[in-house]
Amino acid sequence: MSSEKSEETTEKKSWQIRKKHIIIAIIALIVFYIGYKFYPVKGTDVIRKISKNKKKVCGSAKGENQMYWKKWLNDPNKVEIGDVFRPCPSSNQEVICDREILGKIALVVDQETERLNVTYRAKTELEYDITKAGIHLKVTIDGLSAVDKQLEMCKMSNLTHISCPVRKGLLKLHDSFALPKLLMKGSYSAEARLTNQHGDDIACLNVQFDI
Ligand SMILES: *[C@@H]1O[C@H](CO)[C@@H](O)[C@H](O)[C@H]1NC(C)=O
Ligand SMILES: *[C@@H]1O[C@H](CO)[C@@H](O)[C@H](O)[C@H]1NC(C)=O
Repeated sequence: MSSEKSEETTEKKSWQIRKKHIIIAIIALIVFYIGYKFYPVKGTDVIRKISKNKKKVCGSAKGENQMYWKKWLNDPNKVEIGDVFRPCPSSNQEVICDREILGKIALVVDQETERLNVTYRAKTELEYDITKAGIHLKVTIDGLSAVDKQLEMCKMSNLTHISCPVRKGLLKLHDSFALPKLLMKGSYSAEARLTNQHGDDIACLNVQFDI
């Protein structure tokens, strides 16, 4: 009778110990995962790694447009990660190589802060004033959707530094944004479609890089 009872309590105890071990193991796994995924990236290392695995560029640029970013890209602290182009693909999966490149998106190491910046340069001839512009932005990390948002460019001038209306004629844009110090390791991709007040495409952009 008493031995049965003690057997029960030892079983209970051993289950409790096991439960504790399982919880500790799960916590260790989470800590390990976070430590593995989030780490303070060294800008120069990221630039070197991406430069090594550079992908083929799809599309072509008008000669004079190319001059706008060719020299700018020729910098050991900078690496190209995407294009601004036209026309936009009709579906998400489609990749059109017969497209005009309007600009380049790059990662650059800020020498002062040693942080990574996303920077871009684009140039185009606008045939009409832009009074309203929509941005459909999609970001995936390791193939999982992180952002899928419809934004209004004209209401984001604090961030984009582009003020509306954007007058027709030659349009040259360039800017630089600092990335957070702590970045998650992974495969990043982003695409955005810019549409005007009539809902027609202005341009598209895509970005892809692994860190
Ligand atoms: C944008 O800038 C204006 C001033 O130029 C400021 O009043 C406003 O709070 C800013 N908005 C954001 C979201 O930072
Ligand atoms: C990085 O971005 C910040 C603004 O976020 C800017 O002040 C700095 O000049 C940029 N540096 C480079 C090298 O683009």
